[in-house]
Amino acid sequence: MTSKIGPANGKIIIAPSILSADLWCLGQQVQTVREAGADWLHVDVMDGHFVPNLSFGPATVKSLNGRAQLPLDVHLMVRQPARFIEAFAKAGADLLTVHIEAQDDIKDVLLQIKKSGVKAGLSIKPDTDPKRLQPFLDLLDLVLVMTVQPGFGGQSFLPHSPQHIACVREQIDASARPIWLEVDGGINAQTARLAAQAGAHVFVAGNAIFAAQDIKGALQSLRQAATI
Ligand code: DX5
Ligand code: ZN
Repeated sequence: MTSKIGPANGKIIIAPSILSADLWCLGQQVQTVREAGADWLHVDVMDGHFVPNLSFGPATVKSLNGRAQLPLDVHLMVRQPARFIEAFAKAGADLLTVHIEAQDDIKDVLLQIKKSGVKAGLSIKPDTDPKRLQPFLDLLDLVLVMTVQPGFGGQSFLPHSPQHIACVREQIDASARPIWLEVDGGINAQTARLAAQAGAHVFVAGNAIFAAQDIKGALQSLRQAATI
């Protein structure tokens, strides 16, 4: 069964990141988070150039497609992502997010994503001015505000992140378009609350979910903290 992603309507979305999952038993881990109430599954793609790490590719998305029974939220931390849009769309991504810093002709990449029938997201790194998103809002289904430097799980939420989130929230509200505002990096019950207060409603969490003894409890406390 393929899960179709619904519209952005302000509902709180929890998206566990499989970067922190135990890959020995990925299927089981996905089933555990789904049964614990996860809304989406976050798949981090790294190329060793845009970020100093390597992770998953289209083959991973293809294996998860249908079986995960959760919308696949694919975060491309790669240079020149245009090269890979078709492969990820074919593999079954429901949402493809590229980085504004990764390519010059971002508008073309976003159009390419939309043409392939997938929802389009744009992400900013912690040092990027959120106002740079403005020209692209018309094309976006999601904005991803990185709350750590991308590349690794288990880092601490950067303290200036709520200002970035609030600035993006203002732009989204002014656009009056249904755009998800997602945060990623160092999200736990404490920081989810700060991000929610600043205007986020999609919460990616790796370590806070997969490293927890009680995955269901961890997911529930995240949702509770994000509900303001
Ligand atoms: C970092 C990735 C994140 C990562 C988050 O570059 O984009 O999705 O998995 O992990 P935590 O929640 O552990 O910071
Ligand atoms: Zn991510």
